[in-house]
Amino acid sequence: MVKRLPYVAPKLELITPRSMQKHRMVDITSADSALDDIGDARALLDEFGSPLYILSEKMLRAQYRAFRDTFTAPGINTVVAYSYKTNYLPAVCSILHQEGAWAEVVSGMEYDLARSLGVPGSKIIFNGPYKRPDELARAIKEEALINVDNFDELDLLISVAGNLGIAARTGLRINFQYGRQSWTKFGMNADNGEAVEALHRIKKAGRKLRFEALHNHSGTFQVNPDIYARAAQVLIAIAKSARGLGLSPTIADFGGGYPSNNRLKPAFDVPGGSGSSGQFLAPFAEAIAGPLSKARKAFGERPTMVLEPGRALVDTAFRLACTVVARKNIAGQGEAVIVDAGVNLVPTAYWYDHGVNAASNKDIHAALGAKPVAVFGPLCMQVDILRERAVLPAMSLGSPLVISNVGAYCITQSMQFIQPRPAVVLVGPNGVEEIRRRETRSDIFGMDRIPARLRAKGAKF
Ligand SMILES: Cc1ncc(COP(=O)(O)O)c(C=O)c1O
Repeated sequence: MVKRLPYVAPKLELITPRSMQKHRMVDITSADSALDDIGDARALLDEFGSPLYILSEKMLRAQYRAFRDTFTAPGINTVVAYSYKTNYLPAVCSILHQEGAWAEVVSGMEYDLARSLGVPGSKIIFNGPYKRPDELARAIKEEALINVDNFDELDLLISVAGNLGIAARTGLRINFQYGRQSWTKFGMNADNGEAVEALHRIKKAGRKLRFEALHNHSGTFQVNPDIYARAAQVLIAIAKSARGLGLSPTIADFGGGYPSNNRLKPAFDVPGGSGSSGQFLAPFAEAIAGPLSKARKAFGERPTMVLEPGRALVDTAFRLACTVVARKNIAGQGEAVIVDAGVNLVPTAYWYDHGVNAASNKDIHAALGAKPVAVFGPLCMQVDILRERAVLPAMSLGSPLVISNVGAYCITQSMQFIQPRPAVVLVGPNGVEEIRRRETRSDIFGMDRIPARLRAKGAKF
């Protein structure tokens, strides 16, 4: 008698032409170029431990240059101020500063880091909704541009500048309603008169403030350039109001939010998927520079256009190499592998379908037999899924995998949740250099104290 295997329900997935390409081509063939750039992931894991973040210096520099060139426009000064919070590894910031980037910081801690890396105050843009009086005083003295978030901060800035007797270089963060999920939490509202009211207060502060900039940042991973065209209209209109009051703004700061090469999960993407290949940033540059160059007078004839990209610069330059630690066949769902890196190191896996690739060419050549596999992390959490469905060749225990595009918000938002965080290496002209060592037990528990009355007999902590 023929022994029948139990019935397993097929897993249905919507395959659009783009997602077909996503599963069949990018997951497998992109591994080739990934490996060209960082060398042998398996050898790196052997040397530095698994998992391991890997930065390609060549790619980071190339991303910066492509971004800067895309946003260069006649009659406008372009300033690219790198958003530190996206990834403030000192080596990353240093590479971008070598390329000419300014620093965009959102806390005193980031400000201090930028200064310690040799960035002059005049090339720091200080954003964010909370700046302490001592931090404001330092930024005023060092001539950083301070973009004010709210009226309380404006009062504080006027008072700190007044006490110092130094005019604070001041910008105003502006928000406006645009669609259902507008970022109106930050800045002064343009629609209800708040922004113009702030201009009046700035005017009244006289020499305590030097008003220079209008700023907007309306979201992150924006897939539609139209919001930047709207931001340009709004900032230009407010700049004209400012000029009407005798103020002289020269800087239009459009914040960050430009997409990277990552792919949003279909649930968060536009229908059919947003594009992220070739010159996909060009429409964003056009949406901003087009209106700005037509309204140059509002910003004193030769406007300075500031852009604060984060993910568009660093996402693709980083990969995370990890190791298969177990394999499973899950009832009703199919095959899965467990790897030693999860959403503790790639929190963006909640939003993106990160590329997951076999790490060696040998594995890639076995790709003909590739099949869909779920990739789970090592955390004791149901949501710890790196990818619901990657197309991978047969995996052995110990096989390395490479997760791509993990440069933005993965390291700064990584968690010490049940696992120490990994080392980071830079692959560059000097070969492989460790730019952050792996965390040790004392990095995690060194700050903790047990009151004597709670200490167990024989405890060594
Ligand atoms: C004020 C500001 N500028 C720039 C950025 C960088 O954004 P992104 O990484 O989406 O380019 C952020 C991030 O949210 C931000 O809050």
